[in-house]
Amino acid sequence: MKETDARKKHEYKTKLVASLGLFDATAISVGAIIGAGIFIVTGIAAGLAGSALIISMLIAAAIALLTALSFAELTAWQPREGSIYEYTYQLISPFAGFLTGWMWILSNTFAGAAVSLGFAYYLTAISPTLPPNVIAAFLCIAFTVLNFLGIRQSALINNILVAAKLLILTLFVIVGVGHINRANFAPFAPFNIGVLYGAFYIFFAYGGFARVAVIAEEVKDAKRNVPKAILLSLAISTLVYILVGVVAVGLIGAPSLSASQSPLTDAINITGNTTAAYTVSAGGLLATASVLLTSILGVSRMAYAMGRRKDLPQALSKLHQKFNTPYYSIWIIGVAMTLLALFVDLSKVVAISTFALLFYYTLANVSALRLKAQKKLYPRLIPVLGAITCLALMIFIPIEAWIIGTAGLGIGAIFYLTKKHLTTG
Ligand code: ALA
Repeated sequence: MKETDARKKHEYKTKLVASLGLFDATAISVGAIIGAGIFIVTGIAAGLAGSALIISMLIAAAIALLTALSFAELTAWQPREGSIYEYTYQLISPFAGFLTGWMWILSNTFAGAAVSLGFAYYLTAISPTLPPNVIAAFLCIAFTVLNFLGIRQSALINNILVAAKLLILTLFVIVGVGHINRANFAPFAPFNIGVLYGAFYIFFAYGGFARVAVIAEEVKDAKRNVPKAILLSLAISTLVYILVGVVAVGLIGAPSLSASQSPLTDAINITGNTTAAYTVSAGGLLATASVLLTSILGVSRMAYAMGRRKDLPQALSKLHQKFNTPYYSIWIIGVAMTLLALFVDLSKVVAISTFALLFYYTLANVSALRLKAQKKLYPRLIPVLGAITCLALMIFIPIEAWIIGTAGLGIGAIFYLTKKHLTTG
């Protein structure tokens, strides 16, 4: 009797509750997608692609779509907390599963630091107060607390942030479109190699479409709602990016976008509409904040799933009695992001995050390829092209990000193999 009670209590402490509908689920992914990418990395990508930025955006969107279809197929097959970590574990090997989860955590921890810095750049553009790194660190701490308090509260705040950022980007397009100067699109060089380098950077902006898959066990009717949410969130974001990209280049041209730390504010400033300029700056704040919120949410749930399988220390899967959140995971990730935000430079963290992202997206495509024929929703050509295009995009990663990303991968591999050796030997 006592033993049954103890087991029940343990189950209560480690079982998540499905509380999110399709709307919340889509908003979690849109929340994860639209952030520092469009508000800040647009400037970096414009510096590489020139006025053909829009072509970089389309290339990145096409690659993201192939991988999103693989994710949709995998989540329709088996919605599981931890998502791609679980799929590669089951469909490729436990070692591949571990590396996927590990790189997922790496990618999203760096992305969280990047967006908190993006937030700080937009804030200092409105009113310079503290150094951007300090503001970014404070933001990381605040959002860690929010995640600790529970997913319902996080989802509600996320929905508000998502609605606001979509409205503000729509306002950017509506106010800006009448002020486009066609001369800013010349010279238009879509076959320039810089377009592919630009596609690599702007790919960061699409990352996050599968965020909802990581918390699949917290979504109602997950087999239907999670794949739908993945594809819907990518479609919404792509449409918004293309419109914003065209208007931003049309307003001030690629060289000015590239020279700015808050490119969308600088672009809309040219219209002379100061209300719009302040609103767009506020959009930069809201967008980066919502990505940060879902980054901490997603990374902590990945650590939860890895702890649950004892791939990482088991304490990471322990849920808080009152808030039902994996509190060890949340606090460890929150502290790591805060430290990165204090000491790193934005373009570097973006490149490292995207390296890790492309690594696990490749494995997601390989996993989809290995699904049994009766479980497949799409032709096998989709994951084949998905994997090839993710690998091809890696060619354009700066060498520094290759070195740090590969080192991160190596540390993960050594940790796993040592642990395996110690537990079996
Ligand atoms: N896609 C996310 C962003 O752009 C990481 O901020």
